[in-house]
Amino acid sequence: MVQFTLNGAAVTLDIPPDTSLLHALRGPAGLSGPRFGCGTEGCGACMVLVEGVPAYACTLAASACAGKSVTTVEGLGTPDAPHPLQAAVLAEQAGQCGYCLSGILVSAAALLAKTPDPDEVAIRAALDPHLCRCGSHNRIVRAVRRAAREMAA
Ligand code: FES
Ligand code: FES
Repeated sequence: MVQFTLNGAAVTLDIPPDTSLLHALRGPAGLSGPRFGCGTEGCGACMVLVEGVPAYACTLAASACAGKSVTTVEGLGTPDAPHPLQAAVLAEQAGQCGYCLSGILVSAAALLAKTPDPDEVAIRAALDPHLCRCGSHNRIVRAVRRAAREMAA
């Protein structure tokens, strides 16, 4: 059994001790946001926040999150009340296939929580662990800058 807080709610998962956080989230926790890309910390598709800090869910054991707070893209906002980053991605048409975006959005959210007005260098550095196979990088950077402006307004 592993207990932690997932997107603000307490969860208890009955899983083998070596289960990765990604498999726990996509399996028993029933989420689809965190994605499997490489499984080796090479793409960022699986990124989630653990205690507000980006973490690769593909290599992190779920048991290491016991008692901690885990946030996935589902925890950022809802279709009715999207996080400014989620709204900005739509406004900038920053996603093509969208496979990378769940991870990018949580890393960007962590950046804005720490640095409300990041410059482009800071945004690119924060998103460097993430690959976007569709080449949407410039639009994604614009979306993060738009969200920062809207959060400051
Ligand atoms: S699936 Fe975790 S970094 Fe690629
Ligand atoms: S939008 Fe397709 S991988 Fe980034």
